[in-house]
Amino acid sequence: MTPVISPGLSRRIRGARSIVAFTGAGVSAESGVPTFRGADGIWSKLKPEELASMGAFMKNPSMVWEWYAHRKKIMSGITPNPGHYALARMENLAPSFAVITQNIDGLHRRAGSRTVYELHGNIERNYCMKCGTPYGDDFVVASSGVPVCPACGGLVRPDVVWFGEMLPEDAWDASVRAAEGADLFMSVGTSAVVYPAASLPLVAKRSGAYLLEINPEPTPLTPQADEYLQGASGVFLPILADALEGARRLPHSHT
Ligand code: OAD
Repeated sequence: MTPVISPGLSRRIRGARSIVAFTGAGVSAESGVPTFRGADGIWSKLKPEELASMGAFMKNPSMVWEWYAHRKKIMSGITPNPGHYALARMENLAPSFAVITQNIDGLHRRAGSRTVYELHGNIERNYCMKCGTPYGDDFVVASSGVPVCPACGGLVRPDVVWFGEMLPEDAWDASVRAAEGADLFMSVGTSAVVYPAASLPLVAKRSGAYLLEINPEPTPLTPQADEYLQGASGVFLPILADALEGARRLPHSHT
């Protein structure tokens, strides 16, 4: 049976002036990107602080690069799923719409979303730790082993946020502003346990947003949500986009 959303939620989506989608690994799960937590999650097999931290990189850069080369390979072979496309469709329909993502796979932009704040960086980008020169993946692939900056000899690292590091300031500031201004805030496919990102749904709720959560499993955020849709983002987001599209079509059907 196809899930449905309540008429109340449909009305809310149609009436929203500013919608924000806050996404996590679950949104890319249906594209074949493994999530971090849960029984099959990456962190059930590997320790994050031994791979995704500056300490790990300084101790063993080639091991960390091997891990990122593996993840880059997974991510180069994937495509957006119906959840990503539904968010891109909603951006074209809503008066104001933003995606705040913890994902580093670039799938929101590839699906057509334009206003995307990447809180944890992007795996397609790299930069020199010493002089800051940015490098694309072609450079990294061409380097054997740990890529070294031709300009200054510094080590090149992936442009992703590691444990213990600050989030990119521009993306963070824009995300806080979007959360404060949202009247509908959707937390989608995230376990909502990694801070400071996980504080954004609460910032939005405190500022008056209706908090909607979409996830097959309840999370620590669920008790705070005004509404919880239990299921996959690839199922529910297209239904929400259809509800918004219906709102756009209505005035035309009466003329
Ligand atoms: P997690 O792996 O912690 O959580 C993924 C969530 O997606 C879980 O709550 C799942 O129940 C849910 N899920 C699984 N399949 C889904 C589907 N088809 N549709 C919707 N939801 C689904 O991933 P994140 O919350 O993104 O940080 O993790 C946050 C951060 O922790 C990541 O950005 C990463 C990680 O360590 C850094 O790398 C800095």
